[in-house]
Amino acid sequence: MNSFLNDTVQGLRAADKYLLSKYFYDEAGDRLFQQIMNLEEYYLSRAEREVFELNRKAICDHFPSEGFRLAELGAGDGVKTLVLLEELIKQKRNFTYNPIDISGNALDLLAANLKAKLPDLAFEGMEAEYFEALQKLSTQTDQPLVLLFLGSNIGNFRRDNVDVFMDKLSSSLRRGDQLLIGVDLKKNPNLILGAYNDSRGVTAAFNFNILKRINRELDGNFDLSKFRHYNTYDPHTGESRSFLISLADQEIHLGAAQESFTINAFEAIHTETSRKYSKADLKDLAEKHGFKVSADFRDGSNLFTDQIWERL
Ligand code: AVI
Repeated sequence: MNSFLNDTVQGLRAADKYLLSKYFYDEAGDRLFQQIMNLEEYYLSRAEREVFELNRKAICDHFPSEGFRLAELGAGDGVKTLVLLEELIKQKRNFTYNPIDISGNALDLLAANLKAKLPDLAFEGMEAEYFEALQKLSTQTDQPLVLLFLGSNIGNFRRDNVDVFMDKLSSSLRRGDQLLIGVDLKKNPNLILGAYNDSRGVTAAFNFNILKRINRELDGNFDLSKFRHYNTYDPHTGESRSFLISLADQEIHLGAAQESFTINAFEAIHTETSRKYSKADLKDLAEKHGFKVSADFRDGSNLFTDQIWERL
């Protein structure tokens, strides 16, 4: 059984039903996420870009003065990273940029885009899983590593998984390596609720896309009109959570698993967690996994932080 099928079956069998948000990102999902990043209500991408624009020099001053590797988990569209790359090139710093992504296509697009803008950039894309690529980098070179993990992607781990991920990340780095981590901060709950339930319904469409994908790839028969997008925010845990709420008693069949699932009226399928952190939460997380927070950079409205963590 492939992992999409396996994870979907597990999630629909569970007492509290869930689907995993990593499966949002097929071609249609990537496009919808691009649209989300341009929405007025989705402040995160704009805020992180502002963090870089306001602090570009101070951030780059933290990076090693000798030759280093600048790796990035998830290549993305490079818009935010470009601000730092431009600054490093302006300062004639000696570094190689290693974006890591499982999509060769995403890396090719990024390479074309960056080479046009920064012809002097040493670019070596790595088409691999995150930890496989980090392992390869550490055997390839003795140069110190600065690892970018931006966009509040850390927030998408469920509470039980974040520690597993951070432990693995920490043990993939060497003493003195740096992690530049971008995280959405705890803030006015209404702003967060709006960011995940925008007025144009793009976030809802993004959420529904996982049902479309299940129908197409796993031979499912979800009727999208029988679900509603719903989101919550818990200011104690910092968890923004998205759900699909069933509007009727219904039976879902997954052809690929030859299994049916009963979903009752107003039963919820959890689809995504986007956790927000306070400064104190981040200090605890860093220290728990062998890092020291050595810098904290903000946008003008204190919505978002990009911190530099040093591996001890
Ligand atoms: C990719 N990730 C950090 C986004 C977030 O904010 O959790 C995904 C997203 N989900 C809904 N809108 C954006």
